[in-house]
Amino acid sequence: MSSTVFHSHLLVSHILSFKFPANSQLSSASTVKLGVKPIKAYSLPTTTNDVSGQNHFCVLNRRILVLLSTSQFVLPLNESMDSFCVKAAELDISEYVLIKEAVRKVMSKGKAAGVLRLAFHDAGTFEVSEDSGGMNGSVLYELDRPENAGLKKSVKILEKAKSQVDALKPVSWADMIAVAGAEAVSVCGGPLIPVRLGRLDLMEPDAEGKLPQESLDASGLKQCFQKKGFSTQQLVALSGAHTLGSKGFGNPTVFDNSYYKILLEKSWLSSAGMSSMIGLPSDRALVEDNECLRWIKTYAENQNMFFEDFKNAYIKLVDSGARWKSL
Ligand code: HEM
Repeated sequence: MSSTVFHSHLLVSHILSFKFPANSQLSSASTVKLGVKPIKAYSLPTTTNDVSGQNHFCVLNRRILVLLSTSQFVLPLNESMDSFCVKAAELDISEYVLIKEAVRKVMSKGKAAGVLRLAFHDAGTFEVSEDSGGMNGSVLYELDRPENAGLKKSVKILEKAKSQVDALKPVSWADMIAVAGAEAVSVCGGPLIPVRLGRLDLMEPDAEGKLPQESLDASGLKQCFQKKGFSTQQLVALSGAHTLGSKGFGNPTVFDNSYYKILLEKSWLSSAGMSSMIGLPSDRALVEDNECLRWIKTYAENQNMFFEDFKNAYIKLVDSGARWKSL
């Protein structure tokens, strides 16, 4: 279905190395509990090439496990399990690659920061206790909110990519934005982040006031992230996203650990030149908190660890609050 040509053995090894997100919501992934939120309308992207009415493209790793455990009972005798798995893999991975390639075509490094911020503003509305918000594409209905100023550009960029993907295999906005945010990181030299597919779109805005405000101090930020299920370490790792963009943390189009190195310098305290412009109040607040400071020092010294922790926290972020297509 995609123009991408794969070698079967590479596909299988890709699948085997595709790690399932540690904190993913397996329970909500297995069935779409639309009844849980009766007043909310979720949209299921229709598929053009499904034969059975079921969708065979989501929840990659789990799906492969299911295939492996059941295929011996359902496969025709002349079809080996290997070739069956490879076919399933081709379909799943080609959708993922299709989205990635479409995003890469429209997203230059200069646009990556805005796209990553869009992913946070869609997912960051999640609240564990209310089971509300999260990665559901609702940011499209929230673009006029002050905290989302400037994000229309990023949506416009992704619209182009989405229409290309939709022509071959309809994709939800939630999946599109989740994958695009991960691509924004890797296109700028950050870690490769595998993003699971199959999210449903919510067709209305999330509640207001759920994103962190830049005026928060460290304890306010910690509380805010805790309500979304994130630890202090994950707050510090995710905040490293501010290495991209124009807040003065190194090269605006390079994803590296300069955010932490520059935070430790506290150069905003100096009156020289543009130093006072560096960072948001919320970034500066992190260095004043001992627990955050420990992680800032760790990530400033060890970029690999930052990349690994950012990757895992991002996967958790884009799985937060998501409703999934059923198997
Ligand atoms: C910790 C709490 C956070 C606060 C208070 C916050 C707030 C902000 C603010 C006020 C901006 C500036 C927007 C502008 O220039 O108009 C910004 C930029 C940005 N934020 Fe955050 N943010 C937070 C966490 C995050 C997280 C977790 C991510 C992603 C994982 C993220 C990604 C970005 C990016 C990439 C930019 C640069 C956008 C650009 O230059 O176009 N932020 N953030």
